[in-house]
Amino acid sequence: MFKYSQFEAACPEGLCPGWSIILKGEPPSDASKFEINFLCDRDDRVAFHFNPRFPESDIVCNSFVSNRWGKEERCTNFPFGPEEPFMIEIYSDNENFHVFIDESKIMQYKHRIDDLKTITKVQVTEDINISSVEVTKKHFY
Ligand code: GAL
Repeated sequence: MFKYSQFEAACPEGLCPGWSIILKGEPPSDASKFEINFLCDRDDRVAFHFNPRFPESDIVCNSFVSNRWGKEERCTNFPFGPEEPFMIEIYSDNENFHVFIDESKIMQYKHRIDDLKTITKVQVTEDINISSVEVTKKHFY
């Protein structure tokens, strides 16, 4: 599953739970979609695929496990617009990924991967002009 990656970071000790990703950026005027993917260090697994789709005004979330996509979870709260700057924060605890946009919580996504320690990479792809990405450890654990 090769996609042009705008940003990729690896954390060999694992990103979940405990790490927070804060992405600031803006969709280009002709944005169709972008993705934030939390990847596992083996088997081409995607633990969490966060995929805003502009034509549908939907955020499609899913996991790619055992060589196929699972059941989609869609979020119809779509706070993105072309050339409108936004900030997304995603972090996880032992149960869920939590997603905030401009500091408001928009959704959570229950983990489908048993071994959270294998989630070691985060990647941002496609139609987004990134201004910054912060990957920081949360200290409330
Ligand atoms: C597919 C799409 C994948 C992924 C998946 C999520 O239709 O090709 O890139 O977004 O949906 O369910």
